[in-house]
Amino acid sequence: MKAEAMASSRCGPLGACVLLICAVATAVYTAFPVSVNPCTYSLPRALLAVSGLDPYIVSCAADEDAFTAPLSNGGNDDKNIGGPIVTNLLTCGKPKLPPHALPPFYCCPPMSASEPIDFTFPDPSEPLRVRRPAHAVGAEYMAKYERAIALMKALPDSDPRSFYQMANIHCAYCTGSYRQTAHRELNVQIHFSWFFFAFHRAYLYFFERIAAKLLGEPGFAVPFWSWDVPEGMRMPVEFANASSPLYDPVRNPRHAPPKVVDLEFVRSSVDDKFTDEQQIQQNLRVMYKQMISNAALPSLFHGQPYRAGESDRPGAGTVELFPHNTMHTWTGDLARPSVENMGVYYSAGRDPIFYPHHNNIDRLWEKEVQEEVLVIDGIETDGADMVKFDVYVNAVEYEKVEPGGREMAGSFVCLMHPSMDGTGKGMGIQTSMRVALNELLEDLGADGDDSVTVTLVPRNGKVSIGGLRIVYMME
Ligand code: C2O
Repeated sequence: MKAEAMASSRCGPLGACVLLICAVATAVYTAFPVSVNPCTYSLPRALLAVSGLDPYIVSCAADEDAFTAPLSNGGNDDKNIGGPIVTNLLTCGKPKLPPHALPPFYCCPPMSASEPIDFTFPDPSEPLRVRRPAHAVGAEYMAKYERAIALMKALPDSDPRSFYQMANIHCAYCTGSYRQTAHRELNVQIHFSWFFFAFHRAYLYFFERIAAKLLGEPGFAVPFWSWDVPEGMRMPVEFANASSPLYDPVRNPRHAPPKVVDLEFVRSSVDDKFTDEQQIQQNLRVMYKQMISNAALPSLFHGQPYRAGESDRPGAGTVELFPHNTMHTWTGDLARPSVENMGVYYSAGRDPIFYPHHNNIDRLWEKEVQEEVLVIDGIETDGADMVKFDVYVNAVEYEKVEPGGREMAGSFVCLMHPSMDGTGKGMGIQTSMRVALNELLEDLGADGDDSVTVTLVPRNGKVSIGGLRIVYMME
């Protein structure tokens, strides 16, 4: 009923039918949370265009805050409306925590005796930190991450670089500890909007910088948990070793390795409904849906705009919704009321796996608009026959690459071009071909490599090649 009351003031006559559906659905959901699927909407498309993406109109969430949060005043206020969200670090306050929260119950950073220092970009002569996947980086490298966490945990809690304070930063920015400076009634919240990717990138940047400094290795990069590729779809074993500083006892014990992750996991999910192979295939479908199909516009991927004077949580992007949220829940302890540690914002940063998890999220952020492209120049065929050749990248033995394998980068295909003189000869063709490499190299874990191996395999007809090169393209 709250959804109805909240939305009725914001919606014209067309909105009424949506509200009705939602109010009924909410009531059903409350009564039978698991046995029915309450949020099946059938909405006319024109109506969606009118109501936009406002979550308050179509939300079925049983989240008290979402319904009581003040709405944006639509720009009718002269106080810093529509600019960047501004907060004051000195006004950090009590977090809004769920009942039965685990301590600590306060997330604000220690007071500093000095003024904040403006950020400056690092000196370009410093070593570049190249992040690599946890499953492939090797035990020796993982031991460095382990040591970095041990060193952070050994710092006193009052040290802003300590693991304790690092975890608290995440808590403070998602529990209402900070308010918008010109709009004290409004929370600062870094989830459910276009803040999501940017905030976590900055957070990881400093986390990683502290880790590198404590290790005395300026080039150290935190490995990422690449749960989006089959080889990474298990918790890296180092995190499951109970005597390691990477271990967190407040996790789902059923999801220790070698359990395959479920990128759609929610509290009511049934474990083991798929074989490992089926689960991996389903996870790949999820990745495609959230990275490609559903992320058709930048705002759908990044999340909705969130500006000064606007209420928080305008709408999360595809990746934030899942697999980001679902992997938090998959990792957290279902026996805890709020699925601590990973399964709830206030405590998620207390698990050392949070950072490799978010490193992977950071990696999924749309890569630079530049595309690395393989150019095959001077392709020549006489046109007398159809021509096909396949292009493999980094295939050690191309014969062993399965159909659809990631090393298979593309194919050149050209129809016959018979000459018109009836001699059976063809009209000569000269052309070129291009293959996009960004995603492929990333999938192969080769995006940081100095060179790539390209194999061309003739499949039909005769063709000659002038040369190969790799260029960066931007349009
Ligand atoms: Cu700030 Cu993965 O949550």
